[in-house]
Amino acid sequence: MRGVNTCDTLEAVLQQIMRGSRRPDAIIATGDLVQDETRDGYRRFAKMLKPLGAPVYCLPGNHDSPDIMREQLNEAPFQFCGTASIGNWQLLMLNTHAENDNGGQFSADQLTAIDDDLAACRDKHAIVFLHHHPIPMGSRWLDVVGLRQSQEFMEIVSSYAQVRAVVWGHVHQASDHLQNDIRMISTPSTCSQFLPNSNNFTMDTLPPAYRWLHLHPEGNIDTGIVWLESAKSV
Ligand SMILES: [Fe+2]
Repeated sequence: MRGVNTCDTLEAVLQQIMRGSRRPDAIIATGDLVQDETRDGYRRFAKMLKPLGAPVYCLPGNHDSPDIMREQLNEAPFQFCGTASIGNWQLLMLNTHAENDNGGQFSADQLTAIDDDLAACRDKHAIVFLHHHPIPMGSRWLDVVGLRQSQEFMEIVSSYAQVRAVVWGHVHQASDHLQNDIRMISTPSTCSQFLPNSNNFTMDTLPPAYRWLHLHPEGNIDTGIVWLESAKSV
């Protein structure tokens, strides 16, 4: 992608995780896992992620093929969308893929399902993952391809006190804001990054990265980014 071998950068990020002192309890892959819409692409992704020895919760982005992804990533340790539990945390992995649209969309049924899933886990802390940004990023070109029903989505998640954070990919940059008492967090890409606050498409010079999240039993979240070249957490 634009001169970057995204398979190589993903492999380098995974190697860095494997070298780390803390192994993940779960991996959340927040979409755009492949861009060629082939079964081989998802098989390669699965082969690369499996050695981490942790559940891999996957959700589709605008460049994914949700049908092929569901078919290829539906056996442990992989899971396509849905919900999962870790300790007293409930994880929701949402599908915002829309045909012929780089923006994200939910059907009315999907919005109802999010509401139902959150109503069913009031006794836990909840964290919601999706591909598209549900709040503006401050970049004109990116903000036309965000989540289409951002208002409806935010109304639903804000109506449940147990929702601690919403986390997304898509925007190739790190951000972390508090809105309606919910942490709103974006994650850099395992390949190249986009320059924040740019009106037109502009690449950033930052290296590939991943975000770690530490979900505390009492509901707090610690999080940070590990950038590939420096391996320095921020
Ligand atoms: Fe995307």
